[in-house]
Amino acid sequence: MSIVLIGYMGSGKSTIGRKLAKIVDFEFIDLDDYIQKKENLSIPQIFETKGEIYFRKKEHLYLKEVLQLSNIILSLGGGTPCYGSNMDAILNAEGAHSIYLKSSIPSLVKRLTPEKAQRPLIAHLKTEEELTEFIGKHLFERSFYYSQSNQTVVTDGKSIAVIAEEIVASLF
Ligand code: S3P
Repeated sequence: MSIVLIGYMGSGKSTIGRKLAKIVDFEFIDLDDYIQKKENLSIPQIFETKGEIYFRKKEHLYLKEVLQLSNIILSLGGGTPCYGSNMDAILNAEGAHSIYLKSSIPSLVKRLTPEKAQRPLIAHLKTEEELTEFIGKHLFERSFYYSQSNQTVVTDGKSIAVIAEEIVASLF
């Protein structure tokens, strides 16, 4: 079996994924890192030099590749389930269990504020108000895809360790 972590930017997919992988002794794969290695470019460089459409095509290609693997904890990019047939590919992948890590807008704003620069979609937003408004609309659009996940785990007010244990307890 594999666990696929889904959620908005800043929802803790990579941190929780790494923790989970240690607990269950599965390989951890972060799709953004996988793309960066394969393309030999950082995510901001891909967006800047090749554009978002190129990034989405590669994201789709590499998602299909990693979904073939088993016994992995896979953390996706925030947009991965929301393009093309990606969510269907995730739901239909053999042995894959998808989990939506659901965070509130204020906690996403708090976590993303110091990390905006690495994220091309929000790097231009200057004030907390702008970021809050953007996330509000974007999350509303994306929730349609996120909520199709096999399981939803609310992350607000919980430590990484507590979230990881909650997932392990529900699955193993
Ligand atoms: C994106 C999220 C990022 C990365 C890219 C696009 C998105 O991943 O894939 O910048 O569309 O939400 P994280 O969710 O890991 O920040």
